[in-house]
This record gives sequence, C-alpha cells and structure tokens, in this order.
Amino acid sequence: MVTETLRFNGIKRELLGDPSETEIDDLRRELEERIRYFLPDGGVPSDPLTEAMRAAALSTGKRMRPLLLMLVARDLGCSSPALLDAACAVELVHAASLILDDMPCMDDAKLRRGKPTVHIQFGENVAILASVALLSRAFHILSQTQDISPLIRTRLVCALAETVGAQGLVRGQFEDLHGGHKRSVDDIATTNELKTGVLLGLSVEMAGIIAQADERVLQSLRSFAMAAGHAFQIKDDLLDVPGNDCAQTGKDVGKDAGKATITATLGMEKTQRRLAAHLRDADDYLTDAIGSKQRTRLLVGNLFRKAGPVVDLHAP
Ligand code: IPE
Ligand code: IPE
Ligand code: MG
Ligand code: MG
Ligand code: MG
Repeated sequence: MVTETLRFNGIKRELLGDPSETEIDDLRRELEERIRYFLPDGGVPSDPLTEAMRAAALSTGKRMRPLLLMLVARDLGCSSPALLDAACAVELVHAASLILDDMPCMDDAKLRRGKPTVHIQFGENVAILASVALLSRAFHILSQTQDISPLIRTRLVCALAETVGAQGLVRGQFEDLHGGHKRSVDDIATTNELKTGVLLGLSVEMAGIIAQADERVLQSLRSFAMAAGHAFQIKDDLLDVPGNDCAQTGKDVGKDAGKATITATLGMEKTQRRLAAHLRDADDYLTDAIGSKQRTRLLVGNLFRKAGPVVDLHAP
C-alpha cells in the first residue's frame, strides 16, 4: 500500500502531506525571474529579435526540465546556486527547440503555449535567429556559472553540446521528419529518445554533476530520464489527436498526423500499456538513484496525472 502511494500515478498529494508543492512553485518563480534577468527586454522601441526570444522562453510552459534538474539535485542533497543557472540554460535550449519544431518546414504549428507560434508572431527569419540566439545564450550562461569548479563547468558545457548536437536533439528531430512513415516501434522509440529523452537526460545529468554524484547514481538517473522521456513523448502523442481540445495543451492538434508514432503504430491499448511500463521503469530507476526522496516523484507524478487519462500501473 505504501509502495503504491509512492509510485508516480499513485501519489495522492493530500496523503503525502509533503511541503514540496510550495517548493516547486517557488523554484518555478525563481527560474522565470532568472530567465527574465538573462533576457532583458530591449527597451523602447522594442527589438523584434529580443521580443521573439522572450516570447519563446517566457511564455507559460510547464518548466519540466529545469524543475527536474533542481529537484533531482535537492533529492541528492545539493542546493548549489549554480543549479538555477544550469536550469535556465536547459529551459532556453528547450525554448529554442520549440521555435524550430513549430516552423512551417517542420511541424507547421500555429499555436504554442496558448499563443501564436514565434514565426507567426515575428516572421520566419526572426524565429530562426531567435532560436540560434537562445541556444547561444544557454552556452554563455553555463560558461559563466559561479559556485562550481572549472572542471565541473566544463563538464556541464560539454554535456549541453552533446545533447543538442547531431548525436542528440538535432538528430532526433531529423529522424522525426525524415525517418519515413513506416518504421518499427524500436526505431520510433529511438527517435523519441533523441528528440525528447536526451533533454531530460541532460537535466538529470547536470543535477548529478553539480551534486557531484557518483557514476552509479548518474547511471540510474540517466536510465530514469530515458524511461520518463519515452513516457512523456507517448503522452504528448496521445494528446495530439484531431478532436482533442487544444485548450488542454495550448498547442494545435493533429500536427504529427501521418508521422510514425508509437500510438499510430501500436494502437491505443498497447500504447497505454507501454506508457505504464515506462513509468514503472522510471520509478524503479529513480529509487536506485535517490531512494524514497519525494521531490522528483512529486513533479513527475503531477506531470503525468495532469497530462491526460490516469494510467493503470498494474496493466501487464
Ligand atoms: C513539448 O515539451 C515538446 C515535447 C518534447 C513533447 P513540453 O510539453 O515540456 O512543453 P512546454 O515547455 O510545457 O510548453
Ligand atoms: C518535439 O516533439 C520534441 C522537440 C524536440 C521539440 P513534438 O513535435 O511532438 O512536440 P510538440 O507536440 O510540438 O510540443
Ligand atoms: Mg515535432
Ligand atoms: Mg511539434
Ligand atoms: Mg507533440
């Protein structure tokens, strides 16, 4: 019974009586304030490039990746000020990736976070430039991070570069667009790992690096992030169906219709079972990494409970 309530979808906030909910809100506020500091407005008259960068980064997102970074580190017993800046860097990379993902040559989306997409608001050339500038800003922020040794700073910058590049996020987006309609479930899962999992992986990796966790813990954290990444992309695809209410996601739906996705390939029931299995794996790896600490669990539990139908963790 106790174990069940600790599992992500079994978490009942009122039963846990955990103060972390407030902690998560506080961290989200700190993060957004810090991003505002790193991306000051251009003054008057406004500068469209700056405006586009701010619109992409400061519109209302879940902040899952930076929160994951900061909460995992806290569950590992670390609350270094460097975590906030690393978290900003991760969120800026995510914002940059969303700008490109929405462009007409990619998913051709019109709505993001309940607002017109960046290229609709500012034009395509400004959108591309804003994405590049956000990426560059992320590297700059990391390179200036205080309260860590030069060696740790270098490891963070290196991890960021590997995550974004042609072996990571960019490769995942490439495969998503060019992989073809008929692919095996394993191939689709590899694409999902690259386009979505690696950024979650980076978040926990940075947490582990700053917390100076040992290699065994880092390995468990990476496995947790990959399992959570698979689950997250499946959940996202489940919501991306024509007829679904875009008020729920803030994005226009059906943008990936015709692409090879796990849902389209396996059908609803098998996909739900697969999602449940990924969540079970994620929970087990998280236990290996942080034991029964609750902060990260609370975040992941919230994400999956709010994102759609409750998943039966006991399904075979
Ligand atoms: C969207 O990520 C891109 C995917 C990997 C599915 P999020 O669902 O985290 O987007 P925001 O940041 O909350 O808008
Ligand atoms: C994209 O996945 C993941 C990224 C790297 C941005 P999707 O294309 O499904 O993301 P959404 O649904 O547009 O947010
Ligand atoms: Mg896409
Ligand atoms: Mg998309
Ligand atoms: Mg999607």
